[in-house]
Amino acid sequence: MTLGNNEKKMLRCMRSKEQHVWTLEELLQITQWNDQVHVAGAGKSLDENEFVETIEKNMKFVTLGSEGIKAIENGLLEERIWNWMISQTEKKRTMNELFDAGFERYEAGPGIGLLKSIGVSIENGIFTFDNEKEITNIISERVNFIEKISKEKKDFNNLDKELVEHFSGRKNLILIEEYIVREWKLTNKGINISDNELEEVELIGEITPEFLQKEGWENASYKEFDVNADTPIPVGGRPHPMQSLIERIRSVFLEMGFSEIEGNYVQSAGWNMDALFIPQSHPARTMQDTFYLDEPEKLDISDEMLDLWASVHENGHDTGSLGWGSKFDKEEAKKGLLRTHTTVNTVKYIAENPVKPSRVFGIGRVFRQETIDRTHLPEFHQIEGIIHEPNASLPMLISTLKTFYSKMGYPDVRVRPAYFPYTEPSVEVEVYWRGKWLELGGAGIFRPEVTEPLGSEWPVCAWGMGLERLAMLVLELDDIRELYQPDLERLSRMPIL
Ligand code: PHE
Repeated sequence: MTLGNNEKKMLRCMRSKEQHVWTLEELLQITQWNDQVHVAGAGKSLDENEFVETIEKNMKFVTLGSEGIKAIENGLLEERIWNWMISQTEKKRTMNELFDAGFERYEAGPGIGLLKSIGVSIENGIFTFDNEKEITNIISERVNFIEKISKEKKDFNNLDKELVEHFSGRKNLILIEEYIVREWKLTNKGINISDNELEEVELIGEITPEFLQKEGWENASYKEFDVNADTPIPVGGRPHPMQSLIERIRSVFLEMGFSEIEGNYVQSAGWNMDALFIPQSHPARTMQDTFYLDEPEKLDISDEMLDLWASVHENGHDTGSLGWGSKFDKEEAKKGLLRTHTTVNTVKYIAENPVKPSRVFGIGRVFRQETIDRTHLPEFHQIEGIIHEPNASLPMLISTLKTFYSKMGYPDVRVRPAYFPYTEPSVEVEVYWRGKWLELGGAGIFRPEVTEPLGSEWPVCAWGMGLERLAMLVLELDDIRELYQPDLERLSRMPIL
């Protein structure tokens, strides 16, 4: 081990008094360092190399607490009441007079209590005392004590034990702090090391191009770095992992040529469900699954749209379908709710752009009446998308989803047959992870019962996937709730996406 310049300097300074036990202050002064970190650092490595011995002492210091600071500003409570008391004529030494003099109830009670314990008593409502001088003395000792520690923290052992004990029993008057104080002393090895080993040399800590262009770099001495030394881990700001994931998904879809769309949380049952040919009797439409709103209780939907949905639901209109065969309730369609899926966004987009070929996606929050557990939340996010163009097809849908998941880092994707009231065929999308197929979402080709009332004549590839599911995969979590717990410690340890 070669000694660094700080270690050499500290040793040279300490050798001016070989047997001395050096305090931090003395070492700061003699080395002229202005940061105690240098003493601590050099001291530690000198100790490790047995040039010095570190002596650690547990020290207790007494300082003022918050009430103590107030007492310095306003006077100690018993002192203030006592000064009032001895300046009154005897019959005016009553509680009422004390209040009249401006003392608050919260002070008068404890203050009189303190005085009672040093010789004041109450007789027929009058405060009385025999030994004025003694009480004055006790109080001025207390005042001196807190004034003394207000100037600088005092060593516990050099203070009057009784007074420390007295003030410790009073709330927030004094604080007792414990520290470890270090001192350093040369060992024989430190005393005997030869002077020329303590000469400072210029150690190169940074190898820059400029340095290498100069003469002499071949013979320079280099600073040693201990790459295993402990260092503080910097806590910087970072986006929430969910936010980073959303950004990543967004950039993958943009890269694949999709445009982003958005929509409101508040929607009508008509657009959220009827437009998707979800029968009005569907169990998911009940209050157990959907959050219906009191305000707005109903939303406006054009009569034209309501008429179209009514005939599609009742008899299939001219889609070739038989519909559901039961009566369509237009009032039901107007009901306000919190969207239960983001498919409402893509459907509305088609209604607004029925003859424009488009590839759009959206990432948004959805709401369902779920009991919170390891895999369910009543608010979560979906990643939704459509391809709306003349040649849209199931293979196009599947390869698009495969491309998306491979770009996210999950190349093994498969689809299985599924059922949704609004798609035919319908599939479930699964991703392979750690030996298991995980279900991440649904997809399919919108049925004519959905697209025709919207004014579209093309097939639509559509999908909706759970963002939290994907997040659990990416962040390797097995409880969905962990994503939203405001535990900064855990969040900062989650991988950077
Ligand atoms: N909306 C479906 C869900 O919430 C997903 C889906 C979207 C299925 C589009 C098919 C087509 O699970």
